[in-house]
Amino acid sequence: MKTILQVNASILSNEGQSTRLANEFVGSFGYGDKVIVLDLAKDPVPHLDAERFGAFIAKPESRTLKQDALVAYSDALINELKQADVIVLGLPMYNFGVPSTLKAYFDHVARAGVTFRYTEKGAVGLLTGKKAYVFAARGGIYAGTSRDTQSPYVRDFLAFLGITDVEFVYAEGLAMGDASREAGLLKARNSIERLVPAFA
Ligand SMILES: Cc1cc2nc3c(=O)[nH]c(=O)nc-3n(C[C@H](O)[C@H](O)[C@H](O)COP(=O)(O)O)c2cc1C
Repeated sequence: MKTILQVNASILSNEGQSTRLANEFVGSFGYGDKVIVLDLAKDPVPHLDAERFGAFIAKPESRTLKQDALVAYSDALINELKQADVIVLGLPMYNFGVPSTLKAYFDHVARAGVTFRYTEKGAVGLLTGKKAYVFAARGGIYAGTSRDTQSPYVRDFLAFLGITDVEFVYAEGLAMGDASREAGLLKARNSIERLVPAFA
């Protein structure tokens, strides 16, 4: 039995194309597997601010009660990640980047000494042995071009935490007319059909 953490970043929750694709992927197997769903539209993670970051870096023995609570909130998000064998991410493109809700989530799960540590050779991710699948939905077409700053960012961030085995599925051209949209979704669904047997 695997544990799957599905993080949905669409502002449209289950109606988002990225969520639909992630749901189709997870729904294609999943029987007997444990699925944890984090919907960042319904349960947004607050922006990282000085108070939160101050809590993350305070020594445990000197934390205030408020800092304990802020750290516990971040710990709970990290524990979901730690439990997961597989991470599934529904990733819309909004204004050329990742949704701000996802950035806020990333800011809460990147914690020195918890999910990565600094060494003389640079940072080392501590969440190893996991596989990630990213379902990216876009109005335009970017994959494989220098305008796709989103994919390298997400790949680099996950690698920073130690998650280096990452598969991207793209649904692109969704705002370029009906034919383009259908073609983009069909291509993504074909990729899902190819990925599911490899996963199961
Ligand atoms: C606020 C907003 C900003 C968007 N910005 C972009 C963009 O920069 N590039 C792009 O290709 N598509 C853009 N789109 C289109 C979305 O990528 C597309 O609707 C996609 O399906 C969003 O994923 P979702 O359906 O899972 O929410 C934008 C859509 C919205 C609502």
